[in-house]
Amino acid sequence: MDELELPRPDDWHLHLRDGANLPDLVRASARFGRAIVMPNLKPPVTTVAAARAYRERILAARPAGSDFEPLMTLYLTAATSPAEVEAAARDASVHAIKLYPAGATTNADAGVHDVLACAEVFRAMADHGVPLLVHGESIDPRVDVFDREAVFVRETLARLIEQHPRLRVVLEHVSTAEGVAFVEAAPPTVAATITAHHLLYDRNAMFQGGIRPHMYCLPVLKRASHREALLRAATSGNPKFFLGTDSAPHARPTKETACGCAGVFTAHAALELYAEAFDAAGALAALPDFASRFGPAFYGLPVSPQTVRLRREPWRVPERLPLGEGELVPLRAGETIAWRWLPT
Ligand code: NCD
Ligand code: ZN
Repeated sequence: MDELELPRPDDWHLHLRDGANLPDLVRASARFGRAIVMPNLKPPVTTVAAARAYRERILAARPAGSDFEPLMTLYLTAATSPAEVEAAARDASVHAIKLYPAGATTNADAGVHDVLACAEVFRAMADHGVPLLVHGESIDPRVDVFDREAVFVRETLARLIEQHPRLRVVLEHVSTAEGVAFVEAAPPTVAATITAHHLLYDRNAMFQGGIRPHMYCLPVLKRASHREALLRAATSGNPKFFLGTDSAPHARPTKETACGCAGVFTAHAALELYAEAFDAAGALAALPDFASRFGPAFYGLPVSPQTVRLRREPWRVPERLPLGEGELVPLRAGETIAWRWLPT
């Protein structure tokens, strides 16, 4: 297969940042129909009012003629109230609430220390049908960085789902065989997003000939057997697994430094990178469901009536891309990508 047509896809996990960076990032992702926009700004987006204001800034940053639709999320803190959940459920622009274990990742300091203690808020979310998006990593400093997801799934997520069986939960950017097995065995209320970089790379990529800061993200890339489990899940036709890029831009100097930020930027080639991963697994035919149908089904939204086309046609990724007044280094900088998303 050298060409593939699919309904216009959506990105169910995206970082658009804010301020001067917003126009470049919105432009990079606007080929998608919709995107779940992460709330880990400084300060975090903790209220419906803040989410609505952020949405307006995103809409204003769209390229002329773009109909890209941002789907907003709230950042869960220990202070989030059931009343805010109710307000989120009533607001057409807010689609989910994001749980960051405190300090687990970029701008997660305002996150939650004791996940299960948020029971009242989780009950309100279940009552009002608001999905919980989970950054699933243990914050116990004794836990090895490569085990943080497996430990969180076993010790926290399992209990969370047992205690709140009606709550809809997405294990964001699942990165381990343990995470995949958990989601597969869980009730249909539980799903997961998978990034293109976790499908294409294992942890060796961070150390290829030296340390590669642009391959560092959280959850960190794992050993090859986990990548294989993710590929199997993504291409299996199981509607619990769908596309979420976790494209996470950071200015070049904040990556190329003694203590670099976590995050891989993939928005410039998101669908193309998934096509490569699916193609290499001999499963291109499974891409339209994963990229365009299973996400909307989970969120109770319509599949896009528009179609887009991918062609097998190599192109070279620029070394740098603009990010506000600075620049970023995209995934595959200076290298080629095997598929092209054709303009519509
Ligand atoms: C994300 C970011 O930079 O905001 N970083 C990352 O490595 N994925 C946060 C996140 O999703 O963990
Ligand atoms: Zn993310």
